[in-house]
Amino acid sequence: MSDTLTDTAALRRDMVDICRRMNSSGINQGTAGNLSVRTGSGFLVTPSSLPYDTMTPDDLVEMDFDGTYVGRRPSSEWRFHRDILKNRTDINVVLHCHSIYATTLACHHKTIPSFHYMTGIAGGTTIRCAEYATFGTQALSDHALVALKDRLACLLGQHGQISLGKTLESALWLAIEIETLSRMYVQALTLGEPPVLPDDEMARVIEQMRKMSYGHAPDAEGISDVARPKAAAS
Ligand code: 13P
Repeated sequence: MSDTLTDTAALRRDMVDICRRMNSSGINQGTAGNLSVRTGSGFLVTPSSLPYDTMTPDDLVEMDFDGTYVGRRPSSEWRFHRDILKNRTDINVVLHCHSIYATTLACHHKTIPSFHYMTGIAGGTTIRCAEYATFGTQALSDHALVALKDRLACLLGQHGQISLGKTLESALWLAIEIETLSRMYVQALTLGEPPVLPDDEMARVIEQMRKMSYGHAPDAEGISDVARPKAAAS
């Protein structure tokens, strides 16, 4: 898998691969969902309404930040892809899907609280749910940006979820984690609203994730208090 995000042909192949894995992992189905990746001058985004099993690398749409494009009709959600990539220079990939449990919570406009330490994987003590707006609108994009403030993921009211990443792999990984966490929360709610971890514990969790580069958390630099392979441990 190309991680440099510079070789466009390889990047297009990798995007098709990730789209198919969105479906095979069970977090997406049919023509729901969309994916974008920052390129040198703009971004590549999935076309609208094209099933991933028939999509080829050439079907991906090249867009500029001014909303102009080359190729097929871009995803109806190009506005939130464009706005997130423009505003969030800390990430390169935007993944949207209608995964069942995350969407179940989003249908009730529920924010995921710190009922489980893994809530911290999105970068804070909660995973917010964005206000509802019609799909494909600027209003939806505006609401998504608010919910994503200082976070790598959010739910979209009565719609689905968005996960962000530096790489395609990390965005897919996070989307699957958000779905798993949502499933746990829905399950926990059957016994009543679960207790939450306090903010100071969540601060420790988030720092621990950063130190350990836990999952796909951003790499920690200059931290010595971590396990090292023997050869490097002198
Ligand atoms: P597109 O096929 O236009 O990307 O739409 C799918 C979707 O999930 C809309 O939110």
